[in-house]
Amino acid sequence: MESRTAVAHPNIAFIKYWGNRDAALRIPLNGSISMNLAGLETRTSVRFDGSLSSDQFILNDQNQTGKPLQRVSAFLNVIRNLANQAQFAQVESKNNFPLGAGIASSASAFAALALAGSQAAGLALPEKDLSRLARLGSGSAARSVPGGYVEWQAGYSDADSFACSIAGPEYWNLVDLIAIVDPLEKVTGSSEGHDLAATSPLNPLRQSGVNERLAICREAILKRDFAAFAEVVEADSHWMHAVMRTSNPPLYYWRPETEVILWQVLAWRKAGHAICATVDAGPNVHIMALENEIAWLKAELTQIQGIKDLILARPGPGAVLV
Ligand code: DP6
Repeated sequence: MESRTAVAHPNIAFIKYWGNRDAALRIPLNGSISMNLAGLETRTSVRFDGSLSSDQFILNDQNQTGKPLQRVSAFLNVIRNLANQAQFAQVESKNNFPLGAGIASSASAFAALALAGSQAAGLALPEKDLSRLARLGSGSAARSVPGGYVEWQAGYSDADSFACSIAGPEYWNLVDLIAIVDPLEKVTGSSEGHDLAATSPLNPLRQSGVNERLAICREAILKRDFAAFAEVVEADSHWMHAVMRTSNPPLYYWRPETEVILWQVLAWRKAGHAICATVDAGPNVHIMALENEIAWLKAELTQIQGIKDLILARPGPGAVLV
């Protein structure tokens, strides 16, 4: 069968996904909101081939075996079931950002794989169903399917847990300046981390406030209200890390540099700058800012010891076929 190629972008969550109601189906405990990151991308080609005796997965020119291959193969099984297709597939994938940059690649990876794989199997899924499919590979991938600013409604079942665009990428020119403090891969991956959320006594408290934070964040984006956005984004990041730290075993993703940057960003905002910060399941800090803050901010950040790299990303589109 013919090969299909798709491109998708990673995303940064403003209201975070942490913990599942159903881990196998990746039905999250709460909804989440994110922005796709333009410039950073995964490009994936898929070809089903009757002459193959197993699935093949080549990532950044390296043939994968073990866990990465198993995760891709399990995802291809979902596509094969949907499309009534028995052939194995060759999957070739490339990230234009280093795998170890501390930027979650599973979101762009499974969004691109969902699109390229479903098309290669002869399926033309509407966006909602493509988001549901991507979710089965990685929860956050559901949010990399639609473009721009995206909300994943948690739902209760496979049918109603998917993401939709709140606003296109041009709607608001937020910039994500990613301060890389540790380029190594995280020790505990998100998939294992989600299972620990329920062990934290703070988890119910975090959950009890999340719908309100979702509403505030959605409104702030639609009104382009940076002050409201900044407060709710930082609060939600802190809630997630509080749950992580108080789970059993605890997850502590920050490094001393993470703390330094967060402290500094708060001080700069108090001094009147339109910036805020959020941290995913790793030590790197995503500093969200309005475009006019970027020049001075970059200059200041290069003065901070321990920042190994700065990556700049603007709001990006959804997954597309190329
Ligand atoms: C902290 O989507 O990577 O980045 O579904 O197991 O692949 P899996 O988890 P993943 O979790 C993302 C967690 C997060 C927050 C977020 O992106 O919402």
